[in-house]
Parts: sequence; structure tokens; C-alpha cells
Amino acid sequence: MTELTRAQAYLLLERYGNQVKPEKLIMTPTVEAMLRHKSVRTFLSQALPDGAIETMVAVAQSASTSSALNQWSVVAVTDEALKTEIHDTVAREVKVDRIPWMLEAPALLLWVADTSRSAAMTRDQGGDPFVLNYLDSFLMASVDATLAAQNAALAAESIGLGIVYLGVMRNIAKELAGIINLPEYAFVTFGMVVGHPDPNRTSAIRPRPAQPVVLHHNRYDRDGYRDYVEGYEEACQDFRNQQNMSPKTWKGALHHSMTSMEYMGGRKSLRAMVQEKGFELL
Ligand SMILES: Cc1cc2nc3c(=O)[nH]c(=O)nc-3n(C[C@H](O)[C@H](O)[C@H](O)COP(=O)(O)O)c2cc1C
Repeated sequence: MTELTRAQAYLLLERYGNQVKPEKLIMTPTVEAMLRHKSVRTFLSQALPDGAIETMVAVAQSASTSSALNQWSVVAVTDEALKTEIHDTVAREVKVDRIPWMLEAPALLLWVADTSRSAAMTRDQGGDPFVLNYLDSFLMASVDATLAAQNAALAAESIGLGIVYLGVMRNIAKELAGIINLPEYAFVTFGMVVGHPDPNRTSAIRPRPAQPVVLHHNRYDRDGYRDYVEGYEEACQDFRNQQNMSPKTWKGALHHSMTSMEYMGGRKSLRAMVQEKGFELL
């Protein structure tokens, strides 16, 4: 445990608002950098620094990977025309005010749960990759892609770039697979845009619930989170007011997300699309 500096204490204030805060943090430059994460949705048109993508991918490849199988890939879209084509395809599914950052940022990374190499290399050796028919194979590759992406995100942030994940890519899963020439046994888990944050249109650190909401000691505490919901609502409210965002509660957002198909769009038929790509999800 380290004595917090004023800047570190402020960081925790931004992350948790007035809620109860973790007291025994072991602060390192890496921990601090991770605590400082915020999604960036406003970018300068400036190209990425030379080596940025290679750095992100080296760090992504340094994440753990299930059974050392390396079952993920990333497609780095930097061609403006192609990026615009993907943007326009998403725009047919969701309101354009939810995706302008796709056009602003110089790069769109598509993180792929990718068992296509495993399938091909197994077949090359005369084998039948039947294990890929099971849900766990799909999950394994999706987890690997996610871990890789998050490492890359942190690397980008550490070199002064900003990122935002794009789950909205799954709304156009089928079209996207065609646009980027995705083989069978591969699936874009999500996208991520990366670029130089615009210093004149900055975002802020978004609060998270107090730790007892997510941290269970030894056994799962089914109702413990309830004591912390109001505190989190307040922190969210403060954040939204500061950011001039429309009034919305966390509870309400959860309810809406769980009871509305508004954002599902093409994701409604994801199972069929994933199965078309070869994953049987048994
Ligand atoms: C897998 C994943 C998909 C996401 N998809 C989108 C998206 O499509 N559009 C978007 O604006 N933000 C997206 N986000 C960003 C979240 O909205 C954001 O992380 C969350 O609001 C917390 O804010 P913060 O990242 O600034 O802390 C996504 C985040 C994750 C992890």
C-alpha cells in the first residue's frame, strides 16, 4: 500500500465519485495509467505515430492466450475509403450520432475471434477440427481477442492516443465479414477506433460502482450490491451533469438495455451468422 499523492486521490475521486473508495491501493505507474482510462470519441485527423499499430499488436500478443493457441487476429483498417464504407454500413443500422468517431479517427481495429488458422492447420495435417463445433471454442477465441484488445488499448493510451471500443460492429457482422474478406471460423468480436484525442473536445473519467458491487470475498454475495446502488447513481448523475449529458439513471439504463431491442439491430440474428461462419456452438 502506498500513501496517495493528491493527483492519485483525485483520480480515485473521478473513478468513484463520493462513493466508498478502495483504501489499500498499491500505486504503480501502470496501475495509475489504467485507472486513468476513459473512452475517447473525438479525434484529430492526424495519422497515428509511426509504429503505433505494431506497438499495440506486440502488446496484444503479450496477453495470455488460451492453451497458447493464438486464436485471434486484428484487422487494422486505415484506408479511408474502406473505413467510410464500414461506417456507412453501420449507419444503416444505428443513428449516425453514435458513430462519428469512426470517421474522425485515423484507424479502426477489428478484433477477430479467429479459429480459422486452427481449422486450416488441422485439416492440413489430415485432421477434422470437430472441437471447433463447440461453444467453448468460440468463447475461447472471443476471450483471447478481448484480452489482446485490452492490452492494445492500454498501450495506445500510454503513448498518448485514445480509443473507444465498438460493439456496434456486431450489428453489421455479416456485411462486415464480407467487406474485410473474413474466412470461415472467424468472427469480429468488436471494433476499436484509435487516434489522437482532440484536446478541445475532451471526455472525462466515467465513474464505476463501489468495489463491493463487483468484488465478492470467497463466496458470491447475492444482494450486497443493493446497498451501493444509490451511491453509484449519484456518481453517475454528477458525471452526466458535468458532461452535459441527458438525464439518465444507471437503473433506468439497465432496465432499458434489458427490455428494449433498440440497439440490437442486426445482433438479433447473430447466432445464425456465427453458425454460418462455421461455429456450430454445440
Ligand atoms: C466490448 C465493448 C463494446 C463497446 N461498444 C461501444 C460502441 O459501440 N459505441 C460506443 O460509443 N462505446 C462503446 N463502448 C464503450 C463503453 O460505452 C465505455 O467503455 C463505457 O461507457 C465506460 O466508459 P469509459 O470507457 O470511458 O470508462 C464499448 C465498450 C466495450 C467494452
